[in-house]
Amino acid sequence: MTQIIAACESRTNTTPDFPMGWYSVARSHELLVGEVKRVQAFDRELALYRSRSGVPVLQDAFCPHLGAHLGVEGRVVGESLRCPFHGWRFDSSGQCVEIPYCDEIPDRARIRMWPVEERNGEIYVWFHPENTAPKYELPDLVELRDEQWTSPRYAEFEVPVHIQDIAENSCDPVHFQYVHKQMHTPESSVTIDDDGRILHLRSDMKDTDFPNQLHATVYQPGLAVVRTTYSPEAQMVVYNSAQPIDLNRTLLRWTLTVRREIEDLAGDDVMNGIIEGLSQDYPIWANKVHKQKPVFCREDKTLVMFRKWVRQFYVDVREIA
Ligand code: FES
Ligand SMILES: [Fe+2]
Repeated sequence: MTQIIAACESRTNTTPDFPMGWYSVARSHELLVGEVKRVQAFDRELALYRSRSGVPVLQDAFCPHLGAHLGVEGRVVGESLRCPFHGWRFDSSGQCVEIPYCDEIPDRARIRMWPVEERNGEIYVWFHPENTAPKYELPDLVELRDEQWTSPRYAEFEVPVHIQDIAENSCDPVHFQYVHKQMHTPESSVTIDDDGRILHLRSDMKDTDFPNQLHATVYQPGLAVVRTTYSPEAQMVVYNSAQPIDLNRTLLRWTLTVRREIEDLAGDDVMNGIIEGLSQDYPIWANKVHKQKPVFCREDKTLVMFRKWVRQFYVDVREIA
Protein backbone atom coordinates (compact mmCIF):
# COMPACT_ATOMS: atom_id res chain seq x y z
CA MET A 1 0.00 0.00 0.00
CA THR A 2 1.28 3.46 -0.82
CA GLN A 3 2.08 5.60 2.16
CA ILE A 4 1.21 9.28 1.97
CA ILE A 5 4.06 11.21 3.51
CA ALA A 6 3.08 14.83 2.81
CA ALA A 7 -0.22 16.57 2.36
CA CYS A 8 -1.10 17.55 -1.19
CA GLU A 9 -1.16 21.26 -1.81
CA SER A 10 -4.57 22.77 -2.33
CA ARG A 11 -5.08 26.17 -3.88
CA THR A 12 -6.85 27.69 -0.94
CA ASN A 13 -5.50 26.35 2.32
CA THR A 14 -2.21 28.28 2.22
CA THR A 15 -3.67 31.76 1.94
CA PRO A 16 -2.85 34.03 4.88
CA ASP A 17 -5.49 36.12 6.59
CA PHE A 18 -5.82 39.90 6.05
CA PRO A 19 -2.86 41.87 7.39
CA MET A 20 -3.60 44.76 9.75
CA GLY A 21 -3.37 48.26 8.31
CA TRP A 22 -5.05 51.21 6.62
CA TYR A 23 -6.97 50.33 3.48
CA SER A 24 -8.67 52.62 1.06
CA VAL A 25 -12.40 52.04 0.54
CA ALA A 26 -13.24 54.98 -1.77
CA ARG A 27 -11.84 58.14 -3.25
CA SER A 28 -13.06 61.29 -1.53
CA HIS A 29 -14.70 62.67 -4.67
CA GLU A 30 -16.68 59.44 -5.09
CA LEU A 31 -18.62 60.04 -1.87
CA LEU A 32 -20.73 63.19 -1.92
CA VAL A 33 -22.51 64.60 1.11
CA GLY A 34 -25.57 62.44 1.78
CA GLU A 35 -24.35 59.60 -0.44
CA VAL A 36 -24.46 55.94 0.70
CA LYS A 37 -22.34 53.14 -0.77
CA ARG A 38 -22.00 49.43 -0.41
CA VAL A 39 -18.38 48.39 0.29
CA GLN A 40 -16.97 44.88 0.05
CA ALA A 41 -13.78 44.52 2.06
CA PHE A 42 -12.09 41.86 4.25
CA ASP A 43 -14.66 39.33 3.02
CA ARG A 44 -17.36 41.42 4.69
CA GLU A 45 -20.21 43.66 3.64
CA LEU A 46 -19.92 47.25 4.87
CA ALA A 47 -21.93 50.45 4.44
CA LEU A 48 -20.18 53.76 3.80
CA TYR A 49 -21.85 57.18 3.87
CA ARG A 50 -21.00 60.85 4.12
CA SER A 51 -23.03 62.61 6.77
CA ARG A 52 -24.63 66.02 6.19
CA SER A 53 -21.70 67.69 7.98
CA GLY A 54 -19.33 65.97 5.51
CA VAL A 55 -17.88 63.23 7.71
CA PRO A 56 -17.30 59.79 6.14
CA VAL A 57 -18.73 56.96 8.25
CA LEU A 58 -18.16 53.22 7.76
CA GLN A 59 -20.12 50.51 9.53
CA ASP A 60 -21.14 46.89 9.26
CA ALA A 61 -23.78 46.58 6.59
CA PHE A 62 -26.48 44.38 8.08
CA CYS A 63 -29.16 45.92 10.23
CA PRO A 64 -29.47 44.27 13.68
CA HIS A 65 -33.26 44.25 13.25
CA LEU A 66 -33.98 41.97 10.28
CA GLY A 67 -30.69 42.13 8.42
CA ALA A 68 -31.31 44.61 5.60
CA HIS A 69 -28.18 45.98 3.88
CA LEU A 70 -27.81 49.60 5.02
CA GLY A 71 -25.44 50.36 2.13
CA VAL A 72 -28.14 49.58 -0.44
CA GLU A 73 -30.90 52.20 -0.37
CA GLY A 74 -30.07 53.27 3.18
CA ARG A 75 -30.66 57.00 3.61
CA VAL A 76 -28.55 59.68 5.29
CA VAL A 77 -30.55 61.73 7.81
CA GLY A 78 -28.35 64.45 9.30
CA GLU A 79 -25.50 62.61 11.02
CA SER A 80 -27.23 59.23 10.94
CA LEU A 81 -28.18 56.45 8.53
CA ARG A 82 -31.72 55.15 8.16
CA CYS A 83 -32.40 51.52 7.31
CA PRO A 84 -34.42 51.07 4.10
CA PHE A 85 -36.50 48.19 5.54
CA HIS A 86 -38.35 49.56 8.64
CA GLY A 87 -36.72 52.95 9.16
CA TRP A 88 -34.53 52.28 12.22
CA ARG A 89 -31.93 55.03 12.41
CA PHE A 90 -28.30 54.62 13.56
CA ASP A 91 -25.97 57.46 14.54
CA SER A 92 -22.27 57.63 13.66
CA SER A 93 -21.33 55.77 16.85
CA GLY A 94 -23.48 52.84 15.70
CA GLN A 95 -26.23 53.39 18.27
CA CYS A 96 -29.84 53.06 17.16
CA VAL A 97 -31.37 56.47 17.93
CA GLU A 98 -34.86 56.07 16.49
CA ILE A 99 -37.40 53.38 15.75
CA PRO A 100 -40.20 55.30 14.05
CA TYR A 101 -42.99 53.03 15.33
CA CYS A 102 -41.68 52.29 18.86
CA ASP A 103 -40.66 54.49 21.85
CA GLU A 104 -38.33 51.96 23.39
CA ILE A 105 -34.97 51.17 21.75
CA PRO A 106 -33.54 47.71 22.63
CA ASP A 107 -30.05 47.75 24.21
CA ARG A 108 -28.65 45.53 21.51
CA ALA A 109 -29.80 47.77 18.67
CA ARG A 110 -26.25 48.76 17.72
CA ILE A 111 -24.06 48.40 14.66
CA ARG A 112 -20.31 47.86 14.64
CA MET A 113 -18.37 50.90 13.42
CA TRP A 114 -14.97 50.94 11.69
CA PRO A 115 -12.24 53.56 12.30
CA VAL A 116 -12.08 55.83 9.26
CA GLU A 117 -9.77 58.59 8.14
CA GLU A 118 -9.86 60.82 5.09
CA ARG A 119 -6.55 61.92 3.65
CA ASN A 120 -4.70 62.12 0.31
CA GLY A 121 -8.04 62.30 -1.52
CA GLU A 122 -9.09 58.90 -0.21
CA ILE A 123 -11.17 57.40 2.58
CA TYR A 124 -9.34 54.73 4.58
CA VAL A 125 -10.44 52.18 7.10
CA TRP A 126 -8.18 50.74 9.79
CA PHE A 127 -8.39 46.95 9.82
CA HIS A 128 -7.15 44.80 12.68
CA PRO A 129 -8.36 41.22 13.18
CA GLU A 130 -8.79 41.88 16.92
CA ASN A 131 -10.36 45.34 16.48
CA THR A 132 -7.52 47.22 18.16
CA ALA A 133 -7.11 50.97 17.59
CA PRO A 134 -4.78 52.17 14.77
CA LYS A 135 -1.15 51.41 15.56
CA TYR A 136 0.34 54.04 13.24
CA GLU A 137 -0.63 57.06 11.18
CA LEU A 138 -1.35 57.25 7.49
CA PRO A 139 1.38 58.79 5.32
CA ASP A 140 0.81 62.30 3.98
CA LEU A 141 1.23 62.73 0.23
CA VAL A 142 2.67 66.23 0.07
CA GLU A 143 2.92 66.23 -3.73
CA LEU A 144 -0.88 66.26 -4.01
CA ARG A 145 -0.93 69.71 -2.40
CA ASP A 146 2.11 71.11 -4.21
CA GLU A 147 1.67 73.46 -7.18
CA GLN A 148 4.85 72.12 -8.80
CA TRP A 149 3.01 68.86 -9.37
CA THR A 150 0.12 68.15 -11.75
CA SER A 151 -3.38 67.40 -10.56
CA PRO A 152 -3.64 63.64 -10.08
CA ARG A 153 -4.65 61.00 -12.59
CA TYR A 154 -6.48 57.95 -11.33
CA ALA A 155 -6.78 54.29 -12.25
CA GLU A 156 -8.47 51.34 -10.59
CA PHE A 157 -7.73 47.72 -11.22
CA GLU A 158 -9.16 44.58 -9.65
CA VAL A 159 -6.62 41.78 -9.43
CA PRO A 160 -7.22 38.12 -8.55
CA VAL A 161 -4.62 37.81 -5.81
CA HIS A 162 -4.08 38.16 -2.08
CA ILE A 163 -2.94 41.60 -0.96
CA GLN A 164 0.39 40.33 0.37
CA ASP A 165 1.40 38.91 -3.00
CA ILE A 166 0.95 42.31 -4.65
CA ALA A 167 3.29 43.96 -2.16
CA GLU A 168 5.75 41.10 -2.56
CA ASN A 169 5.87 41.79 -6.28
CA SER A 170 7.64 45.10 -5.71
CA CYS A 171 10.47 43.29 -3.85
CA ASP A 172 10.90 40.84 -6.68
CA PRO A 173 13.40 42.36 -9.16
CA VAL A 174 13.93 39.12 -11.09
CA HIS A 175 10.36 39.02 -12.36
CA PHE A 176 10.94 42.29 -14.26
CA GLN A 177 13.08 40.33 -16.67
CA TYR A 178 10.70 37.42 -17.17
CA VAL A 179 7.26 38.97 -16.77
CA HIS A 180 7.89 42.57 -17.83
CA LYS A 181 10.36 41.72 -20.58
CA GLN A 182 13.25 43.83 -19.37
CA MET A 183 16.67 42.90 -20.73
CA HIS A 184 18.23 42.37 -17.32
CA THR A 185 17.21 42.15 -13.73
CA PRO A 186 17.48 45.71 -12.38
CA GLU A 187 20.01 46.35 -9.61
CA SER A 188 17.91 46.61 -6.48
CA SER A 189 18.25 46.96 -2.75
CA VAL A 190 15.76 46.62 0.07
CA THR A 191 16.24 48.47 3.36
CA ILE A 192 14.03 48.72 6.40
CA ASP A 193 13.78 51.76 8.71
CA ASP A 194 15.33 51.45 12.19
CA ASP A 195 11.96 51.00 13.85
CA GLY A 196 11.30 48.10 11.49
CA ARG A 197 8.06 49.38 10.05
CA ILE A 198 8.68 50.97 6.65
CA LEU A 199 10.37 49.11 3.83
CA HIS A 200 12.24 50.83 1.00
CA LEU A 201 13.04 49.33 -2.35
CA ARG A 202 15.47 51.14 -4.61
CA SER A 203 16.04 50.03 -8.19
CA ASP A 204 18.24 51.31 -10.94
CA MET A 205 16.08 50.92 -14.05
CA LYS A 206 18.61 51.16 -16.87
CA ASP A 207 16.95 48.99 -19.48
CA THR A 208 13.78 50.95 -20.12
CA ASP A 209 13.07 53.55 -22.82
CA PHE A 210 13.54 56.23 -20.13
CA PRO A 211 16.24 55.11 -17.65
CA ASN A 212 15.36 56.08 -14.09
CA GLN A 213 15.90 55.55 -10.40
CA LEU A 214 12.94 54.03 -8.62
CA HIS A 215 12.29 54.35 -4.90
CA ALA A 216 9.28 52.52 -3.46
CA THR A 217 8.31 53.31 0.13
CA VAL A 218 6.12 50.50 1.39
CA TYR A 219 4.18 51.40 4.54
CA GLN A 220 2.32 48.09 4.80
CA PRO A 221 0.90 45.56 2.34
CA GLY A 222 -1.52 47.63 0.27
CA LEU A 223 -0.01 51.07 0.85
CA ALA A 224 3.03 52.26 -1.08
CA VAL A 225 4.44 55.34 -2.75
CA VAL A 226 6.70 54.84 -5.75
CA ARG A 227 8.90 57.81 -6.66
CA THR A 228 10.63 57.69 -10.01
CA THR A 229 13.39 60.13 -10.92
CA TYR A 230 14.49 60.54 -14.53
CA SER A 231 16.48 63.72 -13.85
CA PRO A 232 16.33 66.22 -10.96
CA GLU A 233 13.32 68.03 -12.45
CA ALA A 234 11.75 65.04 -14.09
CA GLN A 235 10.00 63.16 -11.31
CA MET A 236 6.88 61.13 -10.97
CA VAL A 237 4.98 59.77 -7.98
CA VAL A 238 2.64 56.81 -8.12
CA TYR A 239 0.63 56.24 -5.02
CA ASN A 240 -0.80 52.77 -4.62
CA SER A 241 -3.48 51.97 -2.09
CA ALA A 242 -5.54 48.81 -1.98
CA GLN A 243 -8.86 47.44 -0.84
CA PRO A 244 -8.77 43.72 -0.03
CA ILE A 245 -12.19 42.54 -1.27
CA ASP A 246 -11.62 38.99 -0.07
CA LEU A 247 -8.62 36.69 0.33
CA ASN A 248 -8.18 36.28 -3.42
CA ARG A 249 -9.41 39.58 -4.86
CA THR A 250 -7.92 43.01 -4.34
CA LEU A 251 -8.96 46.39 -5.74
CA LEU A 252 -5.94 48.59 -6.47
CA ARG A 253 -6.27 52.38 -6.57
CA TRP A 254 -3.46 54.19 -8.37
CA THR A 255 -2.88 57.92 -8.15
CA LEU A 256 -0.28 59.44 -10.44
CA THR A 257 1.23 62.90 -10.34
CA VAL A 258 4.26 64.25 -12.19
CA ARG A 259 6.34 67.42 -11.93
CA ARG A 260 4.85 70.10 -14.17
CA GLU A 261 8.10 70.21 -16.16
CA ILE A 262 7.34 66.79 -17.66
CA GLU A 263 3.55 66.96 -17.73
CA ASP A 264 3.34 66.71 -21.52
CA LEU A 265 5.88 63.91 -21.70
CA ALA A 266 4.76 61.70 -18.87
CA GLY A 267 1.10 61.82 -18.12
CA ASP A 268 -1.39 59.43 -19.63
CA ASP A 269 1.36 57.39 -21.29
CA VAL A 270 2.92 56.58 -17.94
CA MET A 271 -0.42 55.63 -16.44
CA ASN A 272 -1.14 53.41 -19.44
CA GLY A 273 2.31 51.86 -19.02
CA ILE A 274 1.55 50.96 -15.41
CA ILE A 275 -1.76 49.38 -16.35
CA GLU A 276 -0.02 47.47 -19.14
CA GLY A 277 2.58 46.27 -16.59
CA LEU A 278 -0.16 45.04 -14.29
CA SER A 279 -1.78 43.14 -17.12
CA GLN A 280 1.53 41.28 -17.53
CA ASP A 281 1.44 40.26 -13.85
CA TYR A 282 -2.22 39.28 -14.12
CA PRO A 283 -1.94 35.70 -15.54
CA ILE A 284 0.73 34.83 -12.94
CA TRP A 285 -1.40 36.17 -10.10
CA ALA A 286 -4.62 34.60 -11.34
CA ASN A 287 -3.10 31.11 -11.31
CA LYS A 288 -0.54 31.06 -8.51
CA VAL A 289 -0.89 29.83 -4.94
CA HIS A 290 0.44 31.66 -1.94
CA LYS A 291 3.53 29.79 -0.75
CA GLN A 292 3.79 29.87 3.01
CA LYS A 293 7.28 28.40 2.96
CA PRO A 294 8.86 29.22 -0.39
CA VAL A 295 12.13 27.58 -1.38
CA PHE A 296 14.42 30.58 -1.76
CA CYS A 297 17.84 30.60 -3.43
CA ARG A 298 20.82 32.66 -2.28
CA GLU A 299 20.05 35.55 -4.63
CA ASP A 300 16.47 35.96 -3.39
CA LYS A 301 17.62 38.32 -0.62
CA THR A 302 15.03 41.03 -1.20
CA LEU A 303 12.19 38.51 -1.08
CA VAL A 304 13.53 37.00 2.13
CA MET A 305 13.67 40.48 3.68
CA PHE A 306 10.13 41.16 2.55
CA ARG A 307 8.82 37.98 4.17
CA LYS A 308 10.47 38.86 7.48
CA TRP A 309 9.18 42.44 7.36
CA VAL A 310 5.59 41.49 6.50
CA ARG A 311 5.16 39.27 9.58
CA GLN A 312 4.57 42.31 11.80
CA PHE A 313 1.23 42.95 10.07
CA TYR A 314 -0.22 39.61 11.15
CA VAL A 315 -1.43 38.74 14.58
CA ASP A 316 -0.68 35.05 14.29
CA VAL A 317 2.74 34.86 12.62
CA ARG A 318 2.56 31.09 12.35
CA GLU A 319 -0.05 31.56 9.65
CA ILE A 320 2.41 33.06 7.19
CA ALA A 321 5.85 32.06 8.46
S1 FES B 1 -34.14 45.49 8.93
FE1 FES B 1 -33.43 47.45 9.36
S2 FES B 1 -35.10 48.41 10.27
FE2 FES B 1 -35.81 46.41 9.95
FE1 LIG C 1 5.12 43.00 -11.77
